[in-house]
Amino acid sequence: MPVSTHPTWLRTASIVLLGALLSGCGEEAKPLATTVFTAMPADAALAQVYDSSCKLCHANPGAGAPLTRDTNAWAPRVAQGAETLLDHAINGYNGMPPMGLCMHCSEEQFLALISFMSGEHFQ
Ligand code: HEC
Repeated sequence: MPVSTHPTWLRTASIVLLGALLSGCGEEAKPLATTVFTAMPADAALAQVYDSSCKLCHANPGAGAPLTRDTNAWAPRVAQGAETLLDHAINGYNGMPPMGLCMHCSEEQFLALISFMSGEHFQ
């Protein structure tokens, strides 16, 4: 299954649009856009996992994944509860690959990563 079904032009368009936002003409959009790309878990081991797996899609507006710290995108997902989120992270869900490509991650790490990305506290 392809990672993304978006055509290349759409991906390019969103990158161009994001570039415009980051270049300063969209001051209001700046905090979220900046947070999406720079946010990192405080824990070093977790930051490494995030950087090499989750971030590839969850900080990529073209991937169709709820973006890190985008609380609006996460709200309906958070409402499903920790058990469903963990199940979808481990077993996959549509474009979300099983284990989020982190084959050695533990359940605790997944919950910590989901907490970090959604801004909600799961344990
Ligand atoms: C290859 C891209 C990709 C990677 C890597 C990835 N995700 Fe995702 N993730 C997605 C997409 C796309 C969705 C949205 C799926 C949907 O709602 O159709 C998603 C959704 C989710 C959801 C919400 C599921 C739900 O029930 O709404 C969780 C939780 C999640 N990802 C956790 C993670 C974690 C944790 C990692 C890193 C270990 C990770 N993802 C890595 C693409 C990815």
